[in-house]
Formats: sequence, structure tokens, C-alpha cells
Amino acid sequence: MSNLQDKVILVTGGTSGIGEACTELFARTGAKVVTSSIQSEAGKALAARLTKEGCQCVFQYADVSNESDVEAMIATAVDRFGRLDAVHANAGVLASKRITDVTVEDFHHLMNVNVLGAVLTAKHAVRVMEKQGAGVIVFTTSVAADIGFPAHAVYAASKAAVAAMIGSLTTDHSPQGVRFVGVSPGTIDTPMLAESCAGFDKPKDELYAEVAQKIPVRRMGTPEDVARTVAFLISDEAGFINGAIVPVEGGTLRLPPW
Ligand SMILES: NC(=O)c1ccc[n+]([C@@H]2O[C@H](COP(=O)([O-])OP(=O)(O)OC[C@H]3O[C@@H](n4cnc5c(N)ncnc54)[C@H](O)[C@@H]3O)[C@@H](O)[C@H]2O)c1
Repeated sequence: MSNLQDKVILVTGGTSGIGEACTELFARTGAKVVTSSIQSEAGKALAARLTKEGCQCVFQYADVSNESDVEAMIATAVDRFGRLDAVHANAGVLASKRITDVTVEDFHHLMNVNVLGAVLTAKHAVRVMEKQGAGVIVFTTSVAADIGFPAHAVYAASKAAVAAMIGSLTTDHSPQGVRFVGVSPGTIDTPMLAESCAGFDKPKDELYAEVAQKIPVRRMGTPEDVARTVAFLISDEAGFINGAIVPVEGGTLRLPPW
């Protein structure tokens, strides 16, 4: 298990799916966690559950597309725990639409949460981390940025934008002690994935079984698969991994085109 003892870690989109699993794993392995999202009830319940177990976790409401929310979210981590060792910029939304049906509102919503949210989170976290002379930011991208994911052109573009940002951040800020990495999930069983099944004419379980059979490891990913990877990327053991994006996708990207 990666050593996160006493690290102060902020997780955006931390109250559902991948972010929830990250919040739980980090807190249970000794980190001081600020978990954040727009789901206040779920966030308070998650923080209370972990606190009851003896872990250190607080919830802070923040819409990552709103700069004052993001500033308050970062300030909460620093005020509460005295520093900010790592941020998992994970908040994201999905929209399953072919380009012919995409509205300007759809575009702005996806880009505001997935891209502007990552930009604002990085902007305010880097300011703190540069002063400390240390820090790690992990971005959740997606295999959608690399494959022809059907009916997700704008989502794919948003994740490719985040992936592209990682290289520039590394060049600009790693000399001041900040590492930047990405985790690129494949098909992970979360509420977001379940929602994306809505447009299909088959029950979710049937669809999941079909998808699992196509993945080389013959199963879908779990939020915990991603959480263990992010924990390693945050840990000091990964100190020379910088500017890289780690796929967590059971071999999906290696499938042949037939
Ligand atoms: N599930 C998958 O198969 C998969 C694959 C690749 C990438 N991803 C990415 O992983 C991340 C987590 O997705 P998930 O599958 O756990 O989905 P999820 O819907 O379970 O969780 C998304 C989280 O983001 C939060 N969020 C949404 N809008 C927000 C906003 N404006 N401000 C702050 N938080 C907001 C939600 O409250 C929730 O906590 C996303 O960035 C998603 O694009 C997921």
C-alpha cells in the first residue's frame, strides 16, 4: 500500500465513483483529506463516516468552474491542515451526444467543469505548492482522449485538453517542486458510467457484461483500481514520475482494430 501518512490531500469530485474511492483510500491510509464536490449531502455523510472510523476527512462544497469556490476549497485545506501536499483534480461530467445534437450550452457545461475546473484547481493549488516548494497534482483524464469513443466528441475533446495541459505545467512549475501527472481510466463502474447507459435499449447489467467481454482482462474497472494508482502517483515513491499519464484500463487501448 502506498504511504500517504499525514499527507494533506484535496480530492475534487470526491463524493461519488472514482473520487469517493480515492477519498476513502487516502483517508484510511493516514492522509488528511479535504473532499470536495457539488454534492453537499453525500459529502457531509462521507466525511462523517470516515471521521467515525478515526480518519481525518472534511467536506468542502465547491463548483470547480467557479473561481471563488475553488479559492475557498484550497484555503480550507491550508487553514484546516496547514499545507497542501497533493490535489486530485478529478471532478468531471459526461455528455453522451453525437456532434449533430450538441448545443452551445452542452459544450460550455462540459468545458467549464472538465477543462476550466482543472485550470482553476491547478492555478490555485500551484500557488500554494510553489510557496511550499513541493506538491503533486493528479488530473483524471480518460481513454476517450485517445480512442474513437462513440457519441462523446466534446467529452473526448475536454479530456484531451486536460491531458495536453499536463506537459506545459510540468515545464513551467516542476522546477519549483511541483509534479503533475494524469490518470486515464478506461471503463470504470461508477454512477457516471451507469448514467451513460440510459440511451441504450438493453438493461445495464447486460451492457456491462458485453463491455467486460471486450476488455482484454475481461472485466470492467473499479473505482478502487483507479484509487490505488492515484495513491501511488501521489506518494513519494513516485517522485520521479512527472508529466506522465498512466492508463488504468485493463488493456483497452491495446485492442486491435477488428
Ligand atoms: N467512470 C468512467 O468510466 C470514467 C472513465 C474515464 C474518466 N472518468 C473521469 O473520472 C472522473 C470521475 O468520474 P466518475 O466516473 O467517478 O463519475 P461520478 O459522476 O461518479 O463522479 C463525478 C464527481 O464530480 C463531481 N462534479 C460534477 N460537476 C462538478 C462541478 N461543477 N464541480 C465540482 N464537482 C463536480 C460530482 O459531484 C461527483 O462527485 C471524471 O473526471 C470522469 O470524466 C470516468
